[in-house]
Amino acid sequence: MSIKLSSGKEIPIEMHKTRMVQKITLVPVEERLKAIGEAGYNTFLLKTKDIFLDMLTDSGVNAMSDNQFAEFMRADDAYAGSMTFYEFADAVRDVLGYKYVMNTHQGRAAEHLVAKVFIKPGDVVPTNYHFTTTRAHIELFGASVLEIYYDDALKTESTNPFKGNMDPQKLKNVIKKYGKDKVAFVRMEATTNLIGGQPFSMANLKEIRQICNEHGLILVMDGSLICENAYLIMQREKGYQTKTVAEIVREICSIPDLFYMSGRKNTSVRGGMIATNNKELFDKIRPWLPVYEGFYTYGGMSMREVGAMAVGVREMVDPSVAGCSVEQIKYFVNRLRETGVPVVTPPGGLACHLDAMKFLPHIPQSQYPAGALSAALYIASGIRSMERGSVSMDRDKEGKEVPADVELTRVALPRRVYSISHIEYAIDRINWLYKHRDLVKGLKFVWEPPVLRFFDGRLEPIGDWGRNLSDAFKKEVGNN
Ligand code: F0G
Repeated sequence: MSIKLSSGKEIPIEMHKTRMVQKITLVPVEERLKAIGEAGYNTFLLKTKDIFLDMLTDSGVNAMSDNQFAEFMRADDAYAGSMTFYEFADAVRDVLGYKYVMNTHQGRAAEHLVAKVFIKPGDVVPTNYHFTTTRAHIELFGASVLEIYYDDALKTESTNPFKGNMDPQKLKNVIKKYGKDKVAFVRMEATTNLIGGQPFSMANLKEIRQICNEHGLILVMDGSLICENAYLIMQREKGYQTKTVAEIVREICSIPDLFYMSGRKNTSVRGGMIATNNKELFDKIRPWLPVYEGFYTYGGMSMREVGAMAVGVREMVDPSVAGCSVEQIKYFVNRLRETGVPVVTPPGGLACHLDAMKFLPHIPQSQYPAGALSAALYIASGIRSMERGSVSMDRDKEGKEVPADVELTRVALPRRVYSISHIEYAIDRINWLYKHRDLVKGLKFVWEPPVLRFFDGRLEPIGDWGRNLSDAFKKEVGNN
C-alpha cells in the first residue's frame, strides 16, 4: 500500500507491525571482500552471517503473518487424509476458483510434473518469457522454449505498462511454423521474473486464450507472482481500477487450463501447487505425484507449511500484501532514476532491477556485467542481490555461451521484511557504486556445473578490481 502525505508526496506504507525480529549485522568492507572471494564472486555462495540486507530473492524469505504461524501449531499431521490439506483445497477453491489441486514441494517440482506429462521430445513451448527452472525442465524433456514477447519487452527503460504481454501475432506464426501438434502447451508467466518483474494485461491474456482455443492448445499459467500482476493490472489497465485484487486474481485464474505456482513467494511459505478445473488434465498428472513428491494430501510439503499456505492463499489477495513489495519497488526505482542510475522501468514486481549493461558499459557481456555488479554491490554495501543475466543462462548443446537478452542485477524485496530506511541505505550505496563504476571489471568462470550453473558456479574477477573497489570505499566511506 502507499499513502499520500500532507505535502502531496506518496510513500509506501506498511500495513502491519513487527512482532518478531531477527538481528542482522553489517560486517566491515574488508571482511566483505574476503567473503565474496570465498564465495567465488557468486552471491548464492555467501553465508548469511556476512550479509546485511538479503535482497537475493523474495522466495521462501517473506515474513509470515501471525495467523500463518498459528497454523504451524494447529496443522493436522497425517501421512494421508490430513484435514489441513482439505482446508488448503477449500482456500484454493474460494480464492483461485479451482476445484482440483495438489501440492508440490516447490514451484519447480510443479514444473517438473507439468513438463513430464505434457512434453514429447522435439516439442516447443511458447512463453511470454521463460524462468530458469522452467526452461531447465522443458529442455530436460527434449523440448525448446520459444520466447514470444513484444519487441519492446527487452527495452529496460520503457513506459509500456505491460512488458509481460505475449505477442499474439508471433504466437500465431509459431503455431503455423511448427504445427499445433508440436506445441506442448503455451505458457504465460505472471509478472515475468527474468525481464524485470513485468506484468501482462488481462486483455492480452484473453487474446492468447482465444488463440489457444482456435488451435486446441493447452494454456498453462505460472502464477508464482500472480498477486503482483493483479495489483499492477488494478493500477494500470483500463476498466480494472474499481476491481479488487481478489477479483482480478480470480479472473486471471479463470483463463488458463492449468495453473501452477511456487508458494514461496505470494503465499510466504515453502511449497508449491498445481491447480485446475480440468479433471482430465489433473488426472494425467496426479499418478506421478506420489512418485516424485509424496502422497496426494501432502505433495512433498510438511503439513505445517500446507496449513500456512492455506492461510497465505487467503491473505495474498489483500492489497496490503499483494502491493507491499510493488509499492516499495516503485519508491526504490523512482529514487534511483532521480540520480540517473539505469534501472528497469516501469517499476514492476519482485525487485528493483539494475540494468548492468548500462551501469557497466565497459564490461562485455562475455565477462558477465550483471554478475560483476552483484558482487560489487555486495562489496560496497553488504547487500546480497542476484545476477539475472548470462551467468543465469546455461550453455547450449555444443557447450557455447548463450548471452542473455538482458543483463540485470536484481535487488529483490521480500514481502514485509525490509523498511524504507533499509531501501534508503541501498539507494545510497548503489549511487556510490554508480559514481565509482569504472573500478568494476568483469568476471570469468573457474568452475561451472552442467545445469543451472548460476546456483553453484564459481567465478573470479578479471584483475584485482574487488580490492580496488574496497580500497576506494574505505577511503571515502570508512571500513563499514
Ligand atoms: N516460476 C517462477 C516465475 C519463479 O519465479 C520461480 C522461482 C519458480 C517458477 C520456481 O519456483 O523456487 O519454488 O521452485 N523463483 C525464485 C526466484 C527462485 O528467486 O525468483 P521454486
